[in-house]
Amino acid sequence: MARRSLALLAILSLSRLSVGAQIPLFSSPIATPAKAGPLIEVDAGRWNLSVGRSADSASHLVFDTVASLLQHWPNTHYRNGHNLVPGIIPVGTLMYHGRINQDIPNQPDWFATDPEHSRPFCILWKLPTCWHLTFVTTRPLRVLYFDGSSATKIQGGAMDAQDFVAWNTSRPDWVWEEEKRIIDLCDWGRKYQLDGFARMEMDFEFMLCDFASGSRLVSSIELEPGWDIFPTLQPPQAVGAPDPLPGRGPLARDFQTLQAGAWHNFYPGESRLKLDMTRLVSFYDTDMFPSLVKARSGVDRLQHRVAGLSKEDVQVMHGRLDEVLRDFDGTQSLDSGSGVDWRTLYQVIVDRYADRLEMLQYILNSTDPTAENYSQNYTQTLDSAMYRLQLMFTTYALRTAHPPAVDTGADNDLSWASPVYQYCATTHTSALYPSKSSFTKSEHLLFNALENTNREICRVLVGIWAEGVQAGVHPGLPFQQSDDHDGSVSRWLPMLGRWKNEVDGLMGWLGWSIWLKCRPACGMEEMCYMPTWPWFKMKPPAIYNEGDFGATGYDGDPDPEEEEWRNPLPRCIRRLQPFDWRF
Ligand SMILES: *[C@@H]1O[C@H](CO)[C@@H](O)[C@H](O)[C@H]1NC(C)=O
Ligand SMILES: *[C@@H]1O[C@H](CO)[C@@H](O)[C@H](O)[C@H]1NC(C)=O
Ligand SMILES: *[C@@H]1O[C@H](CO)[C@@H](O)[C@H](O)[C@H]1NC(C)=O
Ligand SMILES: *[C@@H]1O[C@H](CO)[C@@H](O)[C@H](O)[C@H]1NC(C)=O
Ligand SMILES: *[C@@H]1O[C@H](CO)[C@@H](O)[C@H](O)[C@H]1NC(C)=O
Repeated sequence: MARRSLALLAILSLSRLSVGAQIPLFSSPIATPAKAGPLIEVDAGRWNLSVGRSADSASHLVFDTVASLLQHWPNTHYRNGHNLVPGIIPVGTLMYHGRINQDIPNQPDWFATDPEHSRPFCILWKLPTCWHLTFVTTRPLRVLYFDGSSATKIQGGAMDAQDFVAWNTSRPDWVWEEEKRIIDLCDWGRKYQLDGFARMEMDFEFMLCDFASGSRLVSSIELEPGWDIFPTLQPPQAVGAPDPLPGRGPLARDFQTLQAGAWHNFYPGESRLKLDMTRLVSFYDTDMFPSLVKARSGVDRLQHRVAGLSKEDVQVMHGRLDEVLRDFDGTQSLDSGSGVDWRTLYQVIVDRYADRLEMLQYILNSTDPTAENYSQNYTQTLDSAMYRLQLMFTTYALRTAHPPAVDTGADNDLSWASPVYQYCATTHTSALYPSKSSFTKSEHLLFNALENTNREICRVLVGIWAEGVQAGVHPGLPFQQSDDHDGSVSRWLPMLGRWKNEVDGLMGWLGWSIWLKCRPACGMEEMCYMPTWPWFKMKPPAIYNEGDFGATGYDGDPDPEEEEWRNPLPRCIRRLQPFDWRF
């Protein structure tokens, strides 16, 4: 014990020394923001904290869909995919296929990335045989990935993007024409030697055009067929009724599939597919697809669709796909552009702000009488919020940036904080400016979306922080004893209310699904479940034209409010028996 304290002391004094050694660097005074570094320019017009996001910008949508690629959770909440991304399935990847006989498919067919997702398909015809085939890739397979819940057989837009690739239009009446879809997609992709496509429903899947090329059978085994061969054992009709065949019954089986999908909920998601971000095509690219801008105007993001694509934009889509797929080799280097690791860079931004924004929102929520953390002590809330902001800005708060010593009378003039805003807003991108000449078209889109999104986060947060600094809030120090000694004086309330609106507005604009959580958190025997097709609480409303599929498991009536179908939100379901996704 004593020795450890000594060691600690030694470390402490060492670190004091090293801090001391750095002092000359810091003590050379930075007279004006312009001298703080070549990247800080004073341009109060461009870095005006009151000029924020424009209503037409789709940068945040590009940002969020790109940051969400291959992740089950966000792509289950926002079902309607907006990205087409070429990628490869590397050598040695196992793929699974369930069927009623042991034949090797001789035409395009579907593969699951997890066996829990292919197993249910061996019983679809209710025959007493169940064969499970495992294949391995023998060379990198070139595929095109459709994001969103692109394999869900549901109307409303989840299949739009692939419909446009295959047929130049959205075909809601062909939602169930999967056979036709895969054959037409493979026909279309042949000129680019595409091996297949990747999609997502309760879990990820590959659609492969030719089993004989690039993959090899590893095993073909007959499995115990399970519940479907026993006609008397119907799925339970009553919610909560026990599984008739524990471990092998339909609820256990379906739960397995849902759980396998959930393994890929968050970054990096389903990593058995490697995406080439330098060839990404986004339908949120407003320059490339202007016809969708109007179609989206005033429409809730959950209802954004590719269906509104104009004839001209369909041609643009094919032209761009031709550019990105014509020389898509995938065997040498995956990236055709600058070499920047875009997925990681995007995740850096999400990591830096997801928790912090959520915590700040939680603190500001306490001014709301209906919040779980309601507090009338506004000075305490203010103190706590400013403390959070200071922690965020320790690496951005330039020494020279402080409010004018002399009161200018302009309470809301925060232009002194512009250099902090600029530094925060460009800190992840300015170093890449010299690389821009080697960017592909897709990389320019990725770059701009990232910079604009990060910039808006910084604008809001620096604006709040600067207002706090200007108001003389010093976290941890007592407030000036004036009229606010009891901590509840309403003087602070308007400011806190503004901050709450700003933060709520920013988080709503960003729309990150990582903030959709089960509250309170699920217990050990449960998992937090983002409802996915067709495992909703209730039968689909008629507008989704679901056909008969999945109807067996529901407890009767179609959902009158359609709410969970329209806006899937997480809830806890059991991961120990009795399983039931409906409650
Ligand atoms: C910043 O923008 C606001 C609102 O448009 C404007 O009133 C203000 O003059 C601008 N400030 C500067 C320094 O340009
Ligand atoms: C879709 O449009 C492209 C060009 O706009 C055309 O070349 C192609 O033949 C069309 N495909 C179908 C299935 O109509
Ligand atoms: C803050 O309150 C809003 C409702 O006003 C709620 O939706 C949100 O989840 C709360 N945020 C946190 C982090 O508690
Ligand atoms: C609300 O805030 C108080 C004081 O900061 C804290 O002690 C309490 O745990 C919080 N309540 C909840 C529900 O988190
Ligand atoms: C309000 O919070 C401040 C700061 O935490 C504290 O000093 C003060 O005593 C609190 N006032 C009341 C009435 O609880």
